[in-house]
Amino acid sequence: MTRHLLEITDLTPDELARILVLARATPTPVLAGRGVALVFEKPSARTRHSSEMAVVALGGHPAVVGAGEVGIDTRESAEDVARTLASFHDVVCARVFDHSVLNRMAAALDVAGFKVPVVNLLSDQGHPCQAVADLLTLEDVLGPDLSGKVITYVGDANNVTRSLALAATARGMVVRIAAPERYSFGADEVEALDAWAAGAGASGAVEVHHDPVAAVTGADAIYTDVWVSMGQEAEAAERREHLARYSVTETLVGHAPDAAVLHCLPAHRGEEITDGVLEGPTSAIWRQVRHRYHAMVGIFSWLDEQGALR
Ligand code: CP
Ligand code: NVA
Repeated sequence: MTRHLLEITDLTPDELARILVLARATPTPVLAGRGVALVFEKPSARTRHSSEMAVVALGGHPAVVGAGEVGIDTRESAEDVARTLASFHDVVCARVFDHSVLNRMAAALDVAGFKVPVVNLLSDQGHPCQAVADLLTLEDVLGPDLSGKVITYVGDANNVTRSLALAATARGMVVRIAAPERYSFGADEVEALDAWAAGAGASGAVEVHHDPVAAVTGADAIYTDVWVSMGQEAEAAERREHLARYSVTETLVGHAPDAAVLHCLPAHRGEEITDGVLEGPTSAIWRQVRHRYHAMVGIFSWLDEQGALR
């Protein structure tokens, strides 16, 4: 069966560990003569360029496709877009608004017998490629054994938070989520994350907090992301009001002065993070950006190892 990568839960903890190893290895030409479709329904700087250059490094041809060009569910159905791209390319990667579109694309390929994996380049639900880069960054700054280390996510519990929590707990980390009640994960979701962490068999766990100071105290790393994700622009004013207390400022970081600071970017400086913290001595953010490329090298190389590429 074709291996798709729509969320970190599509991997076992060992497979995730293997991707991290492959990400740090010298790229081999596993994509030689192969095309990789990179479809974007939303803007992107890091994801587009890291994916594109990783495909080039692995000897393949990246084909970047804008939303208007293929018109998912407007010009033709997501299923027909997926099958068409899979007729020419050996991997179909997509950034979509609605995660169910990725599920439909993967199902359409499976049902029709295409052995072409679908990779999530960010949806409203998750951002697994980012989470792989986040783990590489955390290993660099906290050491290769992340087990028992604490990372505190401050702000809107969103797509990035979800994939980060899954990836970090799979590596044995304790993930504290500091968010206001209305922008935190619900009880069902926390239960699912806890079950995942327990299933990973390491020391990973998820904790929900509402007080950012208590949540960062004693943390090894602090992570944040925008308060208004792509597609949520209509809620911007309301979100800014409720999340104002969850800004990663010099004062907040002062409660964990040695903690590494991460942000997936793009940042809204002065909202979820201050300039001073982003550019500060504990910021690992630019290292994290560069790891987006290594993460994609690891993911494509792992798909090849699985025999997922034709
Ligand atoms: N972090 C991230 O995915 O950035 P882009 O939206 O620029 O791709
Ligand atoms: N949560 C953000 C991440 C951007 C990389 C968004 O979905 O817009």
